[in-house]
This record gives sequence, structure tokens and C-alpha cells, in this order.
Amino acid sequence: MTVSSLESRTREFFERVSNGGKVEMTDWMPDDYRREVLKFIEMHANSEIMGALPEREWINRAPTIHRKLALTAKIQDEVGHSQLLYRLAEDLGKSREQMFTDLLDGRTKFHNVFHYPTYTWADAGIIAWLVDAAAILSQKALLDCSYAPYARTMAKICWEESFHIKHGYDIVVTMMNGTDRQREMVQDALNRWWGPLMQFHGPRTPRETDKDIAWGIKARANEELRQEFLSLYVPRIRELGLTIPDPNLRYDEERGVWEYTEPDWNELRSVVTGHGPRSQERLGFRRMSYEQEAWVRRAVMGRPVV
Ligand SMILES: [Fe+2]
Ligand SMILES: [Fe+2]
Repeated sequence: MTVSSLESRTREFFERVSNGGKVEMTDWMPDDYRREVLKFIEMHANSEIMGALPEREWINRAPTIHRKLALTAKIQDEVGHSQLLYRLAEDLGKSREQMFTDLLDGRTKFHNVFHYPTYTWADAGIIAWLVDAAAILSQKALLDCSYAPYARTMAKICWEESFHIKHGYDIVVTMMNGTDRQREMVQDALNRWWGPLMQFHGPRTPRETDKDIAWGIKARANEELRQEFLSLYVPRIRELGLTIPDPNLRYDEERGVWEYTEPDWNELRSVVTGHGPRSQERLGFRRMSYEQEAWVRRAVMGRPVV
């Protein structure tokens, strides 16, 4: 391909995707687009598998056999999501071994909320209810992704995530209808998770400068997602008798937006680059299980695995 024909093909491609056109894995795509979609999906896959770790700590401590079963099923779903997403990323040209090595060596990231500790059973409820709620808003914004295989995969993932929210809500409602101590545990968990939840969708990035929106990878800007999260969940949280730990949180009727205390973006940056309170411990656990299960990969793949 000559330089000018490559340029015009690239221009046509971006025009097509920014107007709602779809791309299949076997279609030609510019390297920039391939890199961006791959980076996006890889971080999503990393987050699904790392997100299983804080909840996994509660399987043995879940209060009843039914809670254990529901939590185990949710965790299996999350690991399944990572499996689907790593497959998509592999199709875009990066090997799974390389993706795991990059995750373990801190060269790629996973979502901020999975770098924090869990202290009580209420954390399992708040994670499944509110962390999954924040996640599903981002994930719904991918249902019309220009990279068609990702959009199709999100349809399955979103369905399962919406069930996780019900499981988390049920834990929280049950505890709020329990003893004073249980209500305190939920309030304490909400106090600890509110900051990370407000950071979850990332700093405000204007629509016009967001490459992922311009290329049709995602449909909504960070601040739009945070506003929707607040509109949907502030009333639901308050309805249960919980207090949101932000004295500046209020809905401005005139402007039609939620005002809130500015999230600590330095904390977000530090946490996602591996300096969160549980970042290294969780990566250590992932490293250990990756090494322990090397024999399975060797058996399945029929070749030596590093
Ligand atoms: Fe998930
Ligand atoms: Fe989930």
C-alpha cells in the first residue's frame, strides 16, 4: 500500500467508526485503533480477574451456605468475564502470556476499586451492589462499541453484572434490617468505598478530546457516567437509611447536575499504578496462582510455558 492510499484508507476508517460503523476482527484497521481497543479490553480483562480477589476472601466467611453459593457464583462469573475478554484481546494480537506478565510486572493496570482492602461482610455487599453498579454503567456504554466482537461480549457480561447488583443489594438490605452492629458495618463500608466509587469513572475528560468516544469505542464521557451513577444510586442509598459521607453532595435543580467534593485524583493515579493499600498483595497472590497453575497450561497447551 502506498503512503497516500494508506492515509486515505485510515481517514475513511475513522470517519466510518465515528459515524457508528462497526469493525470485525478480520477487517483491516489502523494500528492506532487496534492498539487503543486492545489496551481498553486488556485493562477490562485485568480488572475482572483482579476484581475476583477481594471478594474471594469472603467465600469462607460468608454467613450462610446460600450466601457462600451466591458469592461463589458471582466470582465464577467475574473470572469468566476475564476469560472472554482476554480471548478478545488475544485476537487483536497480544498473547495471553504477555498480558499476564505485563499485569504482574505493573506495566498494565486494573481498576482502582480492586486495590482496596475488605474488612467485614458488609464490604462484600457494598462491592457487589455499588462497585458492580458503577461498572455496569461503564459497560452499558460499550454495548454499541465500534469493535463489534467487544460489543457482543458486553451483552453477555452486562446481563450477569445486573444479577450481581441484585445479590449485593440483597446483602445490604438484609444487614440494614438486622442489628445496630450490622447497620454500623454497612455504614462503615460505605464510608470507606465512597471515595473510590467517586473516582471509579475517572477525571472529567471533555467529550471532544476523548479518543475512545471519537472512535466509537465507548459512548459516554466519564463525568456523564458519574452523574448517572449519582442520579440512580444516591436515592437508593439514602432510602435504606445510610448516610453518604460527602457534606457537599447535592443536586443542583437549575443546572440539572450533582455537585460533590472533588475526588482525590492523585490518590487514583497512585492507586492504579500499583501503590494502593492492597495492590502488591493482590498482585502477589495472582503471581502465586499463575505459577502454581503452570502445569495446567502446560498440559492444555501441549507446550512448555514460562
Ligand atoms: Fe464482571
Ligand atoms: Fe460483577
